[in-house]
Amino acid sequence: MDTRVLEIKKNLDENIINEKIKPAADIIAAGGLVAFPTETVYGLGADALNEKAAEKIYAAKGRPSDNPLIIHIADFDDIYRIGEDVPEAAKKLSDAYWPGPLTMIVKKKSTVPYTTTGGLDTVAVRLPSHPVARALIRESGCLIAAPSANTSGRPSPTLAKHVIEDMSGKIEMIVDGGSCNIGLESTIVDLTEDKPMILRPGYITLAMIKEILPDCEIDPGIIASDSLQKPKAPGMKYKHYAPKAELTIVDGAEEAVVRKINDLSAKYRNEGKKVGIIATEATLSRYNGDDVENIGQRGDEAMIARNLFSILRDFDSKDIDVIFSESFESPDVGRAIMNRLLKAAGHKVIKAE
Ligand code: TXA
Ligand code: MG
Repeated sequence: MDTRVLEIKKNLDENIINEKIKPAADIIAAGGLVAFPTETVYGLGADALNEKAAEKIYAAKGRPSDNPLIIHIADFDDIYRIGEDVPEAAKKLSDAYWPGPLTMIVKKKSTVPYTTTGGLDTVAVRLPSHPVARALIRESGCLIAAPSANTSGRPSPTLAKHVIEDMSGKIEMIVDGGSCNIGLESTIVDLTEDKPMILRPGYITLAMIKEILPDCEIDPGIIASDSLQKPKAPGMKYKHYAPKAELTIVDGAEEAVVRKINDLSAKYRNEGKKVGIIATEATLSRYNGDDVENIGQRGDEAMIARNLFSILRDFDSKDIDVIFSESFESPDVGRAIMNRLLKAAGHKVIKAE
């Protein structure tokens, strides 16, 4: 299949975006696949209520069929087209954080095919803020099921070139809207149980959700690597975001971390291995490796989030064998950064003394 790339800058006038998006919207309406930018990561979209179309998404990504898709809507009221008994909490969260990087799980209506929900009786819904994503939903006249537009197991795409790497020849079109601002997938909140629960941490933090829903908690299944509890979001159990090289996180005080990573780097380079290092602004010049990448200033979590997946992909393309990364734990966006980094590392963390 020939994959067309259609460039649409997100800062164009709304009417112009609506005009330019038409060829992509037509493909969605006809049951085809289009990758498109959102504020979090690129999505791989299809008509959510068309079973045959949704099936194609799983095939293009190599995604297990029990891993449900998020349905993207352009107006809050569309949630009632796919959700049953939508709770008041959904409206409250929407007023606070939609459009934006937040996904809510509610009970599904029978109109939503089980292909889209991976066999579940619940459905994930998100109202994105990206103008190109919103135009695509509106112009197609569809609700759009879209997982991240990567091959299953690879880091999520934050640039069109990442999507081209993974999806060329497999889908009809890629809409290139430049880089994704947030760079990590949306926060997922489950509203179907007694208490609201975060199933995947993201840019909208626990504290932010608690401002609206004070009894919100984090799914214990996603916190500990040794947890016997399975995570509630099916996708969170898979090894994910994995670069080809072996990644290890080194945690501890700055001085100790720099020393430890340099020791390890020297050891592996002696063995002829190519070493990649994820450094921060402050430590960048103190590392010795084959490829030392600056992920941003330690205090600037938004920047670190934006750069993470792209850096992991770059290591792949440079044939790096082993990667060492500093640690970024915090109660805010750092929680989401570490969740993705830990998964990429298969939970391998070394303590630097
Ligand atoms: O930011 C995002 O959410 C991006 C953009 C494209 O919107 N999408 C995204 O989709 O990250 P995906 O498919 O890569 O991740 C969806 C996650 C998976 O972990 C899946 O298991 C979970 O959401 N999920 C979807 N529906 C669910 C449901 N009904 N119950 C529990 N988890 C669900
Ligand atoms: Mg994904």
